[in-house]
Amino acid sequence: MPPRRPPLTTADIARIRDDFPVLHVRRGGKDLVYLDNAATSQKPRLVIDTERHYYEAQNANVHRGMHYLSEIATNAYEEARKKVQRFINAPLTCEVIFTRGTTESINLVAQTFGRQNLHEGDEVLISAMEHHSNIVPWQMLCESCGAKLKVIPINERGELKMDEFEKLISPRTKIVSVVHVSNALGTINTVKEICAIAHKHGVPVLVDGAQAVPHLPIDVQDIGCDFYAFSGHKMCGPTGIGVLFGRAERLNLMPPFMGGGDMILSVTFEKTTYNGLPYKFEAGTPNIAGVIALGAAIDYLDGIGMDRIAAYEHDLTQYGTQVLQSIEGVKMIGTAREKAGALSFVMESAHAHDIGQLLSDQGVAIRAGHHCAQPVMQCFGVPATARASLAFYNTKEDLDALGAALRKVNEVFA
Ligand code: ALA
Repeated sequence: MPPRRPPLTTADIARIRDDFPVLHVRRGGKDLVYLDNAATSQKPRLVIDTERHYYEAQNANVHRGMHYLSEIATNAYEEARKKVQRFINAPLTCEVIFTRGTTESINLVAQTFGRQNLHEGDEVLISAMEHHSNIVPWQMLCESCGAKLKVIPINERGELKMDEFEKLISPRTKIVSVVHVSNALGTINTVKEICAIAHKHGVPVLVDGAQAVPHLPIDVQDIGCDFYAFSGHKMCGPTGIGVLFGRAERLNLMPPFMGGGDMILSVTFEKTTYNGLPYKFEAGTPNIAGVIALGAAIDYLDGIGMDRIAAYEHDLTQYGTQVLQSIEGVKMIGTAREKAGALSFVMESAHAHDIGQLLSDQGVAIRAGHHCAQPVMQCFGVPATARASLAFYNTKEDLDALGAALRKVNEVFA
């Protein structure tokens, strides 16, 4: 075990902020306060430079050419796969599949594992705090094969009702698919426990890790999941690139998702044989620049240390909660005991969209709306929330600016 590194200090964060050019965009004579990290994170110079370097010095297709540039591009692409493997502690490199993002990763599993294994009357078990990307693909699957969607309820704090979870598993349950960290509530789910319970009943588990990977150290072996999906752009990487981790013994049994180049061993008009892992699931020219830049994002995060990021953000989340609770008329939506990243709230004085607009006018960027999680809004009886979402480059000063801007909202709507 490498020695534990000291916690991140204010000076560390100041240096880190200098790595992110966009954090110095000016708004109203001040640096913009960016608190919309759950929507997408900002990118450090290392990631931006890596992507530019690929196009300036490495650009060629991968796994195809025998020439110098193609070898360089292929090596860089496959090196990034190894970085992802190490980052999430996947047992095998071939268990890392590159996709366009979490949404595509979940659709891949629904359309391959799902179509292969679900039949009329079978069940998919998700939770009431899922993002639409972990609801709709399963609904589409259920519609196509006559399966049923079942939902684990949540309590008033926005935590899964774990005592009801196991009761919802039946002999017809073919997959459990749950979010690790809720984008709308910030709740951290006990995914290790969920996997253990589901596996006791012989049911595989997909974990939507889109909002977890940027904030917590992830170990898919420790979690024990069968599939883990996440996006590059929420973890300092580029948009349009994501990952599906799947256990090889499951991926090997699944049919391909899309057909095309690179996913085959041989093609005749009579019969096509498919490539092995991971290529069976990577049809067509992939997002090569995106993959290599995602590798750079992992280098960057590793350089800081995900354990240090998690500890720093934990304190920041607590501080942000105190700031919000000090504002008259603010009600937090999502008060789970374990939270990461997202602080959702409503105000007596103003609708979420008005809050978002007034905050933007004051140079504070948050998201307002249903956060692609309409069922969560229905659980809490609100049409929308305002959401401040954090990253390790945010500071207490950012949260103080949020507090000051919200006081102004109260004044304007008084
Ligand atoms: N899923 C992203 C969010 O929560 C876009 O904002």
